[in-house]
Amino acid sequence: MERFTIYNPTKLHFGAGVVDNLGKSAAACGKKILLVYGKGSVIKYGYYEQVLKQLKSAGLEIVEYGGIKPNPVIEDVRKATELGRKENIEAIVALGGGSVIDSAKIMALAIASGYDGWDIMNHKEKPASSLPLICVLTLAATGTEMNGAAVVQSHDTGKKIGYVTDLAFPVESFLDPTFTVSVPKNYTAYGIVDLIAHALEAYFGEGEPPVIDQITFDIIKDAIQWGPKLINDLDNVELRANIMLDATLALNGLTRYGKKNGDWAVHGLGHEISLLFDTAHGATLSIGYIAWLQLQKDRIPERIIKLGKNVFGVDTVDDTIAELRKFFTSINSPVQLSEAGIGKDQRQKIIDQVHKNGVSGMHHSLSEKDRETIVDLMF
Ligand code: NZQ
Ligand code: ZN
Repeated sequence: MERFTIYNPTKLHFGAGVVDNLGKSAAACGKKILLVYGKGSVIKYGYYEQVLKQLKSAGLEIVEYGGIKPNPVIEDVRKATELGRKENIEAIVALGGGSVIDSAKIMALAIASGYDGWDIMNHKEKPASSLPLICVLTLAATGTEMNGAAVVQSHDTGKKIGYVTDLAFPVESFLDPTFTVSVPKNYTAYGIVDLIAHALEAYFGEGEPPVIDQITFDIIKDAIQWGPKLINDLDNVELRANIMLDATLALNGLTRYGKKNGDWAVHGLGHEISLLFDTAHGATLSIGYIAWLQLQKDRIPERIIKLGKNVFGVDTVDDTIAELRKFFTSINSPVQLSEAGIGKDQRQKIIDQVHKNGVSGMHHSLSEKDRETIVDLMF
């Protein structure tokens, strides 16, 4: 067992109707709130209206920043930070998926500290505090609702980076599965892939505590059991709830107990693909994981076979990879770059990009040659 420290201060509210208590919680954080959301789905499906009603009935003053895009960009974080500073806001309510919540985490740090958000993410500046952040999650995938991580990209610097700090944990998060019934089929599938990928990143990290291996398998098995049913029954709130809980558990620290780290090479690879082609995060991971497992199959066969036995009931490395590939394909998430509309003519561009940012794993490091091999395996 590895030495480890776990910290998680987020208060989680889960279930239909939980947002009815949002006003009280927000009022405890401040009188003037910055409400952050995405490109409009929350307005279209009525979640914005419900949140606004809550905040207004608690007597709060509201300043809004809408328009955060999927694969969020630092320019939006900067604009919202400027607005928040000018308006002297005291707390942030983020209404949306991972892109909105991650952006809000960096805004909260930047407004409280006076530093630039990108300088914070690059560890050039070290904020000592953050504004309180409350999340209302609308898409089950990232686990950001209950962790201290934020991922944002900058086209100027050609980087999509993750930043992790204890200060970025939301104070409270509201998870109402009925807020996710409108998520379209493709993003529902990408969310399922993302949560499975988080479990795998933890599983392939350093340290193999048996009980955590079992919990990790159970999360993956649950997602594999309910995911395809949900894809064919998008309005089913109970199935939405199952996947929503899986997603939170996959990246709220639980799968990291007893471990030194996760691996995260596939996420690193996926971030480069998203940066280059604006590919949805989950779609990059179904492609990346199949390629990564093929690269690692002669290096860590026991670990891959343990996964295959426990999750799919198969006995070999090849069968494990084949089953995972079959599952991703069954929910229509791509397993090759061509299925995401990225042609072989992009090979060198991708290789240059992964070299430039030194994509590697925290446990299983990737050599220059490995990076090229893995890119080829993705085609
Ligand atoms: O922008 P709007 O109009 O809101 O539409 C969004 C967006 O187009 C839509 N959507 C969200 N909720 C909806 C909905 N559509 C209908 N009904 C709803 N209820 O879905 C699209 C995708 O949203 P996005 O927030 O981008 O998706 P997701 O939650 O998958 O977040 C992805 C981002 O999170 C980062 C990824 O890199 C990516 O940038 N990650 C963050 C992590 C973390 N903080 O711990 C870990 C992850 O590994 C990941 O890297
Ligand atoms: Zn992810």
